[in-house]
Amino acid sequence: MTKSLKVTVVGTGYVGLGTAIMLAYLGHEVVGLDIDQAKVDMLTNGELPIYEPGLDQLLLDSQARIRWTTDYATAIPSADVIFICVGTPPNPDGSPNLKYVAQAAQSIARNLNGKTQVVVNKSTVPVGTGDWVARILEENAKEYHVNRYLVVSNPEFLREGTALFDSLYPDRIVLGSDSAEGIERMKTLYAPLIEQSFEPPAYVPRPAGYVEPELVATALSSAEMIKYAANSFLALKISFANEIAGLCERVGADIGEVARGIGSDARIGPRFLSAGAGWGGSCFGKDTSALISTGLEYGYDMPILQAAIEVNTRQRSLIISKLQMHLHRLKGKRVAVLGMAFKPNTDDLRDAPAHDTIARLNELGATVVAHDPIAMPRARREWQHLNYHEASSVLEALRGADAVIIATEWDEYRNQNWGAVSSGMRQRVIIDTRNILTSRPEGVTLEQIGKRQMVAEPAGQAGAQFADSVTVAGASVAAVPGTLS
Ligand code: UDX
Repeated sequence: MTKSLKVTVVGTGYVGLGTAIMLAYLGHEVVGLDIDQAKVDMLTNGELPIYEPGLDQLLLDSQARIRWTTDYATAIPSADVIFICVGTPPNPDGSPNLKYVAQAAQSIARNLNGKTQVVVNKSTVPVGTGDWVARILEENAKEYHVNRYLVVSNPEFLREGTALFDSLYPDRIVLGSDSAEGIERMKTLYAPLIEQSFEPPAYVPRPAGYVEPELVATALSSAEMIKYAANSFLALKISFANEIAGLCERVGADIGEVARGIGSDARIGPRFLSAGAGWGGSCFGKDTSALISTGLEYGYDMPILQAAIEVNTRQRSLIISKLQMHLHRLKGKRVAVLGMAFKPNTDDLRDAPAHDTIARLNELGATVVAHDPIAMPRARREWQHLNYHEASSVLEALRGADAVIIATEWDEYRNQNWGAVSSGMRQRVIIDTRNILTSRPEGVTLEQIGKRQMVAEPAGQAGAQFADSVTVAGASVAAVPGTLS
């Protein structure tokens, strides 16, 4: 039986929403608070302001235990645990902007009620922010006592698109606090997850072989560091795969085979080694920059992270270089961009490689036709500064195009009959920046990332074949020296 706690989650972005709905599903009494009345109205009507697979269903299943408000005065006093899940957007110098954290902490402090309450930082905040939040509580709470308002750091590791799965079946739960009581209350809150005693929703079944998450209890500052170090390492791993992919193209090796070969070493691991357009999204860019900027405060350089960012930037320009190798002048050419979201199964456009690709195509004078299965309505609002036509289908996007860039690996693109859909193109050039094509249709020029040139596949035959002679897709890069550096 879950011991039901009263929980308030401040901030209903990706992290706050997922946290609030999951905790309600686990049996807690939850209030979701946001200062944005429009968002609160939507949520009260059962609508989600974001797209996340399964979250609408989890909300339906938890509705009895969750309510939404803009009002701190009713949401804070009775809460046992209060989560801060507000945004920490980057400042121009890369450091995170903590304005919203400060505002939330002040509003929470003014409404604390004198009993023991735990304030949890789930927003990604620099090391030392937990102590700073404790100071804000001290300065603004009426009946402050050091043992009464406990601050915990509980970093979030969920990925957009698989947020439910990651939240219900995490690898680990990190709890950082300098108060043992704070950690104990969080263990009570997470008991259903730690013991895996909840009934798994049918639409997010517990994976075979999964037992329980590892509980990592640490000092406050260590938990804050864990979040940054984890994301930075993942970003680094992808940049490493991309750097090796560039060399694979030159020496005639295949990054897929190389990743399989190194990833099966348990010390390395197979995940986050997919070469492609480089990482995007709301976390990796922000967190790597934030860690570097923390280092700078102490006069400490972080050259490995700096290089990971540089490789990622280079990877994005590689897409255009590959296009130019085949189309040469892009002015007046029609280019289809498939996929706008930074990755599949989300409508999140933040730091999406497709954004930079479209912007560069605009600069170079190409006509852009873009498509995304989910993110087009959001792009209409957020990408008004870009110039592109929307296509309602892949077929429509490709009609009359001189090239197509696959920017996001949506299943819809993976499952296309590329031989058939590309037949309506003016020039059948496919720049597959996510390496999703497993064969090269006859008559198509295919560019991938770090792959060997595939032998053309006559219609009707399945499976990838690789040329023995080293006709490497990217080897032609050698003919335009310097495009990669
Ligand atoms: C990430 C972290 O995974 C998560 O733990 C953290 O809490 C938030 O940041 P998210 O941004 O949702 O999650 O996306 P993720 O699935 O990690 O992908 C990040 C980026 O890396 C995407 O642009 C993706 O396309 C790219 N990526 C990922 C690769 O290019 N190659 C890979 O092998 C894996």
